[in-house]
Amino acid sequence: MTQSEHHPTGAHPLGEEPGPYGTGATGQATDQRADVSSFSPQASMWDAVRKVRTRHLAQAKATGEKFAMLTCYDFLTAQVFDAAGIEVLLVGDSAGNNVLGHTSTLNITVDQLIPLTAAVAAGAQRSLVLADLPFGSYQLSPEQAVATAVRFMKEGNAHAVKMEVHAGLTDHVRAVVNAGIPVVAHIGFTPQSEHALGGFRVQGRGSAAADLLDVALAMEAAGAFCLLLEMTTAESAAAVESAVSIPTVGIGAGGSTTGQVLVWQDAFGLRRGKLPRFVKQYADLYGTLHEAAVAFRTDVCSGTYPAPEHTFES
Ligand code: KIV
Repeated sequence: MTQSEHHPTGAHPLGEEPGPYGTGATGQATDQRADVSSFSPQASMWDAVRKVRTRHLAQAKATGEKFAMLTCYDFLTAQVFDAAGIEVLLVGDSAGNNVLGHTSTLNITVDQLIPLTAAVAAGAQRSLVLADLPFGSYQLSPEQAVATAVRFMKEGNAHAVKMEVHAGLTDHVRAVVNAGIPVVAHIGFTPQSEHALGGFRVQGRGSAAADLLDVALAMEAAGAFCLLLEMTTAESAAAVESAVSIPTVGIGAGGSTTGQVLVWQDAFGLRRGKLPRFVKQYADLYGTLHEAAVAFRTDVCSGTYPAPEHTFES
């Protein structure tokens, strides 16, 4: 097994990397707009951005600044990440793994992902909301790609869509862009093609680096406003980053990309088990939730909850 072939969806196929994926809402949206300046280590173009647009990601690349993207699948989490200043919230098809309990991203449908997209859009005031087009919902034809992307914009209130691509899908990307919908082209390891790619494998090694560059340039020419590079060698990602004029965002693609994206359940420790080597863990949410649930059960079983202060009197 080669290094870093865990996949962030949560799928852990034998001998491969574990996967990286592991107000429609329940209340009024409060103004949780990020005070980005309060936590920026230094003055940044992001301090002045009240609502993240595709042009701001382009500006980040032009000015040599970075941006952060996290997956997000629900309203309350969207409010937290939005308030934290995360520039892009990705409603990934990894919701199949992380919300629905699937072992792959292949199963989730458009009808399942659109409500999650709408929930995230309801919680996001500043962040750009990027919706993944599920497997089978855009590959058939450019017309199918446009029809699906339109649904995510109209019904999901997405601001842009992401498509997992290869050279054969260039016309599909161009058609969606021509319909007025911003497209992120996902290249490198594309989980929807897990079986065609022979499993969770690092892309862009050796002569494959030239193919990665070719598809990147084709997607830029087709009008994609950003490239997402997943599980590529750092060198091949750096070559793409310097060859294209659009911003790039990486997951397991080294440090040269304009932005970085992680699956939040991986990064914040909600998922247990072996994580891809590119994941940095920032919290132990599994531990925090487990501890809280045990404390609640202990209180209930011992009769210490509810106490008088939790009880209505006549
Ligand atoms: O669906 C997803 O979570 C993704 C990320 C791994 C980039 O595509």
